[in-house]
Amino acid sequence: MTHLLHIDTSARSERSHSRRMTREFVNTWKENFPTSTVTYRDLARNPVPHVDESWIEAAFTSPQDRTAKMWESIQISERLVDELLSADIYLIGVPMYNFSVPSTFKAYIDQIVRLGRTFSFEPEDQKTPYKPLVHGKKMFIITARGASGYTPEGIYKAYNYQDPYLQTVFGFIGITDINFIHVENDEFGGERLAQSIAKAKAQIAEIFVTYE
Ligand SMILES: Cc1cc2nc3c(=O)[nH]c(=O)nc-3n(C[C@H](O)[C@H](O)[C@H](O)COP(=O)(O)O)c2cc1C
Repeated sequence: MTHLLHIDTSARSERSHSRRMTREFVNTWKENFPTSTVTYRDLARNPVPHVDESWIEAAFTSPQDRTAKMWESIQISERLVDELLSADIYLIGVPMYNFSVPSTFKAYIDQIVRLGRTFSFEPEDQKTPYKPLVHGKKMFIITARGASGYTPEGIYKAYNYQDPYLQTVFGFIGITDINFIHVENDEFGGERLAQSIAKAKAQIAEIFVTYE
C-alpha cells in the first residue's frame, strides 16, 4: 500500500494557490488510489523548530555516544525523519518567498537532512564522500510565485533559488525523482494567472493518466 506525505508551507490559507493545488492533487490521488494512506503536515500552522546548538551537538554525535539529553534535543528531528522515510511519495506545496522557500520549510529541511539517517559521510571516499540514504521515493512539488520568468531561459533565471535549491537539497539525500508544477503570476492576476492555474491543473491531471 502506498503512503503519501503531504506538506503545505504557505503562510496563506484559502487564498493560497499552492494549498489549493496540493488539495486538488490529494483529492485526485485518493480517487485513483483509494487504499493508499496520507499523512498531512502543515508547516505554517505547526512550524517545526530551528536547529540550535544542542541539536547540532546531538545530531553530529554517533548514536551510541548520545546522552539522554542529546536524544531529547533531536527528538522532533527523529520523528520527522521517521515520517519522511515511512512515506513512498511526497507532495509539497511551496510558495516562492524572496526568491527561495518559506523559512518554515527551510527549518523543516534542516531537521530532515540528517547525518546517518538521510545521508552518510565517508571522508576516505575522495570521489563521493557524501552518500544519499533515501532511495526509491518520488516527489511532487507544487510552487506558487508572484511573477514568472524563473526558467533557465527566463529574465529572472538568476533570481531563482527555489526549485534549483529544492532539487539540490532533496537530491543530496537521494530524492532525485522530482516533478515540479508551477503556478505563476499571482501578482499580475487576470488572464496570466488564470492561464498558469489552468496549466498546473492540466499537469496534475496528466500525472494521473500515466501514474501507476
Ligand atoms: C514574503 C513574500 C515574499 C515573496 N517573494 C516573492 C518572490 O521573490 N518572487 C515572486 O515571484 N513572488 C514572491 N512572492 C509572491 C508569492 O510567491 C505568491 O503570492 C504566491 O502565490 C504565494 O504562494 P501561495 O499562493 O501558495 O500563498 C512573495 C510573497 C510573500 C508573502
